[in-house]
Amino acid sequence: MPVYNEKVMDHFMNPRNVGEIKDADGVGEEGNPVCGDMMTFYIKVKDNKLEDVKFKTFGCGAAIAVSSMVSEMAKGMTLEEAMKLTPASVADKLEGLPKNKLHCSNLGAQALHEAIKDYQKKQKTGGK
Ligand code: FES
Repeated sequence: MPVYNEKVMDHFMNPRNVGEIKDADGVGEEGNPVCGDMMTFYIKVKDNKLEDVKFKTFGCGAAIAVSSMVSEMAKGMTLEEAMKLTPASVADKLEGLPKNKLHCSNLGAQALHEAIKDYQKKQKTGGK
């Protein structure tokens, strides 16, 4: 079992913003084909800002901690700022992940970006 630091353990044991937004403005799903872990992000957008962010993660401890941190960081950001969130910045905020768990940090930012793209697509097509 990899050794997680306290911050990662905290987000793993008490993940923030877990759940689903029923009338989400955008939904993004991302999976890791190697380990089979899956993550879904739901966003609510108001005035070009992420008003609410929730997620559901079926994955390892690092994946859960990463989703929790991404949701916390992204809330209140503009869409442009959120699109610039990188796996590295998330791992940094978590004060580091074990080397063999770094790949797990990719899913969080990617799933969030997918949710934003989904929202933008819906804007263009009038919600269809
Ligand atoms: Fe799959 Fe961590 S082992 S995301």
